[in-house]
Amino acid sequence: MTDILTWTDAHKAGFGRENLTFTHDLHNSPLFTDEALIALIDRYPRDKLEVFTMGYDPTNWGQWFLGRRGAHDGRALMEGVKAGRLWLNLRKVNHADADIGALCEAMFAEIRAKTGVSTLKEDLGLLISSPNAHVFYHLDIPLVTLWQIRGVKHVYVYPPKAPYVSDHDLEGVALRESDEQLRFDPAWDAEAMKVEFVPGQMLTWKQNAPHRIVNQDSVNVSLSIEFMTPAAIWRANVIYANGCLRRWLGLKPALATSPKWLEPFKVVFARLVKMTGGYNGNKSPLKPRFTLDETRPEVLHFDEGVEVPVPSKRAA
Ligand SMILES: [Fe+2]
Repeated sequence: MTDILTWTDAHKAGFGRENLTFTHDLHNSPLFTDEALIALIDRYPRDKLEVFTMGYDPTNWGQWFLGRRGAHDGRALMEGVKAGRLWLNLRKVNHADADIGALCEAMFAEIRAKTGVSTLKEDLGLLISSPNAHVFYHLDIPLVTLWQIRGVKHVYVYPPKAPYVSDHDLEGVALRESDEQLRFDPAWDAEAMKVEFVPGQMLTWKQNAPHRIVNQDSVNVSLSIEFMTPAAIWRANVIYANGCLRRWLGLKPALATSPKWLEPFKVVFARLVKMTGGYNGNKSPLKPRFTLDETRPEVLHFDEGVEVPVPSKRAA
């Protein structure tokens, strides 16, 4: 079987620990033609498909809105994406669809074979998004591989450390502490890894690296695959424990400089906290704020009281 990704020794050695770009050929796969995507949307559980829209200012994360798709089928949603400002997410589509599931398994079998790293909790999200849509500055607790299938986007990846993210804020994400997103300062772009992301590229970054994504003037189709490794789970548990120690005991742990010999105790502590109900964060599930028009899915009807996004600052 031929490889899905191109691998050099540096890719094999750095995978899961470094920011890396790869090339692939999935943009030519029959799995991702327009008709295949429409059929996939129609096979995917209706209530699991998420529709979002967003504001224009990359520092105003409050303008990230979940919507109601109404009765629209896959073809209408694709039309809405082409003509509007939408961002569709089919989460965990590897669990919902046999063909995508087989592809995801093949990807990770290859990653395990090339790197010797074991992977688990693989979650493949299919993202279909409008020209000029963007995703606000945020970070993910798992590791991520991002695959570009169609369209062009700019991906900005920032170092996973202060000032880009503080220990306190990183812990807050792990603890699902609140709805507050990370603060973003456009001046940080100077230190970011900026990738002009085109079909046939795959990008993976250091665990917890903050990132933001700006579609260029084209419909974008991408795969965002989260996964864990034993080392990534270890780090996630240390962050979780640090968060509890800071909030409950007033300690000031620092992920980068706290003694490594404490980490096994922190991992056990984090597991115990999770087993006994976990840290009680205040993050609330997103509520839908708009509905797609019945006949023109690119037209959005916002609920009363929602600050309707208006074009101002571009996300670059
Ligand atoms: Fe992300």
